[in-house]
Amino acid sequence: MSDWHNVIAAQDINPGDHAVVEIEGASIALFNLAGEFYAIENVCTHDGSEIAGGCVVDGAIECPRHGARFDIKTGAVTAPPAYEPVEIFPVRVVDGLVQVRDPRWD
Ligand code: FES
Repeated sequence: MSDWHNVIAAQDINPGDHAVVEIEGASIALFNLAGEFYAIENVCTHDGSEIAGGCVVDGAIECPRHGARFDIKTGAVTAPPAYEPVEIFPVRVVDGLVQVRDPRWD
């Protein structure tokens, strides 16, 4: 099973904010939605742009390039032009640190 990685102090991401972190070469967008943390791959499945800089609308991140939207909790597409979901990652908070792991390595 892949290891959990400490990525950032939980207090450093307020509700509604996000951070971009890197885990073993993967760029991951970490979101705080109303106090719960979620992690998705920071790569749009439409044409590979970084998606973390987009707006969050109703729990979905909007890709700043062409406007595709992805549900931050599930990775599912909620608006085209993307049709494939983005990868999501397990997140937990231990001793005030947000931890993420990449199960693709399991
Ligand atoms: S690259 Fe994200 S919508 Fe096109």
